[in-house]
Amino acid sequence: MHTLCVVNQKGGVGKTTTTINLGAALANKGLNVLLIDLDPQGHLTEGFGVHEEYTKDSTNIYELLSSESKENLSALVVNVENLKLIPSHIRLFLAEQSLATQRGRELRLKRLIDGMPNKPDWIVIDCPPSLGALTDNAIYASREVLIPVQAEDTSIRALEILLDQIQSLEQALGVKVKILGILPNMVEDTKLSKSVLVSLRKLLPITFPFEIRKRVKLKEAWACGQSIFKYDPGSDLIPVYNMLADEIIKRAER
Ligand SMILES: Nc1ncnc2c1ncn2[C@@H]1O[C@H](COP(=O)(O)OP(=O)(O)OP(=O)(O)O)[C@@H](O)[C@H]1O
Ligand SMILES: [Mg+2]
Repeated sequence: MHTLCVVNQKGGVGKTTTTINLGAALANKGLNVLLIDLDPQGHLTEGFGVHEEYTKDSTNIYELLSSESKENLSALVVNVENLKLIPSHIRLFLAEQSLATQRGRELRLKRLIDGMPNKPDWIVIDCPPSLGALTDNAIYASREVLIPVQAEDTSIRALEILLDQIQSLEQALGVKVKILGILPNMVEDTKLSKSVLVSLRKLLPITFPFEIRKRVKLKEAWACGQSIFKYDPGSDLIPVYNMLADEIIKRAER
């Protein structure tokens, strides 16, 4: 089993879009994929059209993380397209505050994953746009990270802050975190876009030999609760997400 988190504390860079479509690409290769929506905003849950889970009055991810429930993580799984999803829940907004005072707070998600009776081939975790207990849990549980970035000026500072946070987590928890890559997203043919990409590649040369271009169909697919694979099977992004999945598999095994 491999566990990967899609992380960047900068908002709106494409974490959820990457999680959905990388997840769908891995599942289309016949792999057993579980996505975890660890963002209290619940955009991944919404992006697969299962909004009702977000406010449902039943055991949820917040209760498991905060030890309010002893239920197994597998009990939360719902089927979406050809993969599985652990939905977010509106109560997850309470997590940062309630976990803050608890010992071993960064270790909760990993313990829950380790306790699942049937492990998938791949787990992909969608992180919230913040550095806090939830993102720490995701990084610690996965130890492998994928960082989507938008080609704009503020991305470089955001990336430096994220790299610092990963380094402090490694030191505090005595673990090694592997950055599988920096994925430029919403790329356009502008001068600014190109110059920011050059600077990002200098800062961390683990990029991919491709980028995700700006495509309005990705927004439409999310609004329809579908991956791009289902929403627009002819999209020129499908071969790119397939290449991303192949690269992720390769780099994770290295
Ligand atoms: N390559 C792209 N082309 C066009 N639109 C995109 C692309 N990637 C993402 N988007 C759109 O940009 C918005 C932000 O993307 P997304 O929700 O994936 O970012 P995020 O990093 O998860 O945001 P948050 O930080 O709020 O969780 C969404 O409306 C999404 O549909
Ligand atoms: Mg998101």
